[in-house]
Amino acid sequence: MTHIYNFSAGPAVLPKEVLAQAAAEMLDWHGSGMSVMEMSHRGPEFMSIYKAAERDLRELLAVPDNYKILFMQGGGLSQNALIPLNLLGHKPEGATIDFIHTGSWSDKSIKEARKYANVNVAASSATQVPPQAEWRLTPGAAYLHMCTNETIGGVEYQPDFNDPRFKDLVLVADMSSHILSRRIDVAKYGVIFAGAQKNIGPAGVTIVIIRDDLLGRALPICPSAFDFKLVADNESMYNTPPTYGIYIAGLVFQWLKKQGGVAEMERRAIAKAELLYNALDASDFYETRVAPANRSRMNVPFYLKDESKNEAFLAGAKARGLLQLKGHKSVGGMRASIYNAMPIEGVQALVDYLNEFAGL
Ligand SMILES: Cc1ncc(COP(=O)(O)O)c(C=O)c1O
Repeated sequence: MTHIYNFSAGPAVLPKEVLAQAAAEMLDWHGSGMSVMEMSHRGPEFMSIYKAAERDLRELLAVPDNYKILFMQGGGLSQNALIPLNLLGHKPEGATIDFIHTGSWSDKSIKEARKYANVNVAASSATQVPPQAEWRLTPGAAYLHMCTNETIGGVEYQPDFNDPRFKDLVLVADMSSHILSRRIDVAKYGVIFAGAQKNIGPAGVTIVIIRDDLLGRALPICPSAFDFKLVADNESMYNTPPTYGIYIAGLVFQWLKKQGGVAEMERRAIAKAELLYNALDASDFYETRVAPANRSRMNVPFYLKDESKNEAFLAGAKARGLLQLKGHKSVGGMRASIYNAMPIEGVQALVDYLNEFAGL
């Protein structure tokens, strides 16, 4: 059979070793006589799985002790409501939330936040992040929200923390599609959140990393099951967490540690992205639309200049085992998502096909 490489934006490719281990442990986890799916979330077996997952993620991202890691449900999108519901409790009516708008996901976050507070879009561009000096930040804003990797448009960036305006603000970052692919200084953020289904594990788990002093600020209408403080105080067991998803996430964290951790993932991500963007840039047959400085290392949208060849391109890709390359319906074209679990061989296979299809 042709080797399969899955370029889906998410749910996305997982390490084969992780899937093989999960398959081997499916019916009987470590001699317990139970599948992980059948375990009480409060029993010793699952608690050991949970604690190892939390510890490994903390180690991988060097999460400081004054931050809690929550394993929640609801996906990345629900955080757009849960963040204001959890952070605005201590703010007077009329609080403002600042946003950097860089594409579809920040768009959705902005729309949701308007239900809870005034919104100021401090900077906006879906192809190039405006220079930070031009960001019109609100003094005393409740927090600044940014999506540091726009999965659909392919814009990735990290703020410049030397900006003195960043000293006191609470920074909230949606890292759903690039968490664990690059080193970050968690201490610079108030809240980091990420849906699991790209670089972490199966859909259904949402990671929230939050600084301790931001807990306990929920609005009275915040649903209890989504009150970060209650979730933190109960080690993510206030209600039943997505146990099987946490187990798979834990296996992915172990796999990441074996591979060399986040620094090694970053090295690989740079190599894979360079390989792909160089091939796209070298050909007149394809185009990319994001400014080079903001090109995502994880999600690479590209277009055939002659869009009438799109279907033939996708059919040829599928025949070669290169799956799920169709771009998001809102932007069209193609998109190759090259997350941590995508080996460089997969990117090379895509580059070979890009060249072949372009007749190079
Ligand atoms: C950056 C980003 N934020 C939020 C979401 C929404 O996540 P979910 O579908 O888990 O709600 C996605 C999903 O693809 C995403 O890529």
